[in-house]
Parts: sequence; C-alpha cells; structure tokens
Amino acid sequence: MKISVIHGPNLNLLGLREPLVYGNKTLKGINKQLSNKALALGCEIEFFQSNSEGEIVDYIQLLKERNFDGLILNAAAYTHTSIAIRDSLLAIDIPFIEVHISNVFKRESFRHKSYLSDIAVGVISGFGYMGYEYALDFMIKALKQGEIR
Ligand code: DQA
Repeated sequence: MKISVIHGPNLNLLGLREPLVYGNKTLKGINKQLSNKALALGCEIEFFQSNSEGEIVDYIQLLKERNFDGLILNAAAYTHTSIAIRDSLLAIDIPFIEVHISNVFKRESFRHKSYLSDIAVGVISGFGYMGYEYALDFMIKALKQGEIR
C-alpha cells in the first residue's frame, strides 16, 4: 500500500511559523513520526512539500500512474483558493483526506471555504500535528478493509 502526504505553502516553516496556531513541531519532525507509523502499519509513505500551486498540481497528476492508493493533503492556503488543485484531485480519482493543523472554523471567515472538502473522504481540522496521524491511521485501515477506494 502506498500513501502520499502533501504539505502546501508555508508548511515548510512549521516550528517557526505562528507557534500558537500551528505548534512547535517542525515539518521534518512530523514526517518522521508519520514514517514510523507507516512502517509499523506496513505501508509505504512519500512526502511532498511545495509553496507553488503548479508544482502541487504536477505532483498530484502523477499519483495514479505511480500507483498510490491514498493521499493525505494539507493544501494550506490553496485549500481556500485553488480550483486547479481540486480539478487535479478529480482527475486522478484517488481517495484523499483533507487535514488542517488549526481549526479553520475558529479563524477568519475566508478559511471556512474549502474547494476540497466536498470531494474528500473526510476532513480533520484543529487537532494539531496529530491530525496527520489520525488521517494516516484511518486511511490505512479503511483502504485495507475496502471501505474507501
Ligand atoms: C492550514 C490552515 C490554512 O487556512 C492556512 O492557510 C495554512 C495552514 C492548517 O494546517 O491549519 O497555511 O491549512
């Protein structure tokens, strides 16, 4: 089983960026923990971070032919703006979970709109870096049990 994790713009600054909102963990630290969990659950995992919308679209487009089974996606600010990322997700038709570290519904109203939520398996928002772990846990179990595909 192969799962991809995409981190969108500014998430490379985790640990430094607004720690009261996004916590103290670095992206490297989060990815390390996810790698350990994937290994324990017998799943292959790949990480991708980009600040560029086009690079994220290019990466998503290849996931199907690269035989990925699922995707965990924090598109960060592009969540609220990007029809291009939405269209690339519809094109590849691979199940994905939308993750946000912060609770976007507690924040500015422009963060309440997502171009991705209605085509996601589900959304996790406000559980800090642990949201990624919950998403990975669910995705592996649900894929194994054939509950999502
Ligand atoms: C975020 C929430 C977005 O609104 C914001 O633009 C981000 C991070 C989160 O993980 O809480 O960059 O996706």
